[in-house]
Amino acid sequence: MKNYEPMMSFDEEVAEVYDEMDRREDTMDTVAFLEPLAGGGTALELAIGTGRVALPLAARGIRVDGIDLSPAMVAKLRAKPGGDQLTVTMGDFAEVPVQGTYRLIYLVYNTLFNLLTQDDQVRCFENVATHLTDDGVFVIEAYVPYVTRLRGNQHVDAEAIEADQVTLDVGRLDPVKQMYYESHVVLSHKGVRLFPIVQRYAWPSELDLMARIAGLRLKERWGGWHREPFIPTSTSHVSVYGR
Ligand SMILES: C[S@@+](CC[C@H](N)C(=O)[O-])C[C@H]1O[C@@H](n2cnc3c(N)ncnc32)[C@H](O)[C@@H]1O
Repeated sequence: MKNYEPMMSFDEEVAEVYDEMDRREDTMDTVAFLEPLAGGGTALELAIGTGRVALPLAARGIRVDGIDLSPAMVAKLRAKPGGDQLTVTMGDFAEVPVQGTYRLIYLVYNTLFNLLTQDDQVRCFENVATHLTDDGVFVIEAYVPYVTRLRGNQHVDAEAIEADQVTLDVGRLDPVKQMYYESHVVLSHKGVRLFPIVQRYAWPSELDLMARIAGLRLKERWGGWHREPFIPTSTSHVSVYGR
């Protein structure tokens, strides 16, 4: 996608509507899964965003630190109750630019794929490993790439249709580069708004190899936050890595 910069996907305009557009209903399931893994210790969320997961996790008594690159997303987090209590480092989560070690580091909502090269994704695993306690775990939630489910490697979905506004989700895959180019297109009397996002997707098996390169191994893999079995029809996975 020409002229694309990753932070375009998380600028002020996106931050303004992110929580409203986010239709996830499993946030508290995510929190319930993560809480015991923190074991009363400290947790670190890579790409903390507006605090969708971090704030309810912190409300359960877990100290949660965060990393993010978008001032606009973090400003939204700060404006929420408890949002000014968290330590958030502004930086690239591939670098894990924090001090110390954590019992739990997590990266949810497919965000590993926002790192657009395999090298950056491997570097993220390597840096995470250096910040995990010996018994610490790294939890990743990501989709299973759906290459075979798209006709002609592309799709157009009618995401929302209202009387005064229509939202389309358009996407195209490059299976050779493992890149997914997507835009949410909002059409209304105000005009056309584009919300582009590019991802470098990877299969669970490739993530397992990245973990091995970083000295970690897969401890558990589930089909969802309720520990559903991971089966051939699973569309996403929750993977837990440790030493
Ligand atoms: C889809 S949001 C997810 C936010 C939050 N984890 C959640 O589940 O709601 C992705 C977040 O990743 C951040 N992000 C993307 N690439 C990043 C990078 N390389 N370093 C740090 N943050 C990044 C964005 O700024 C955004 O806040």
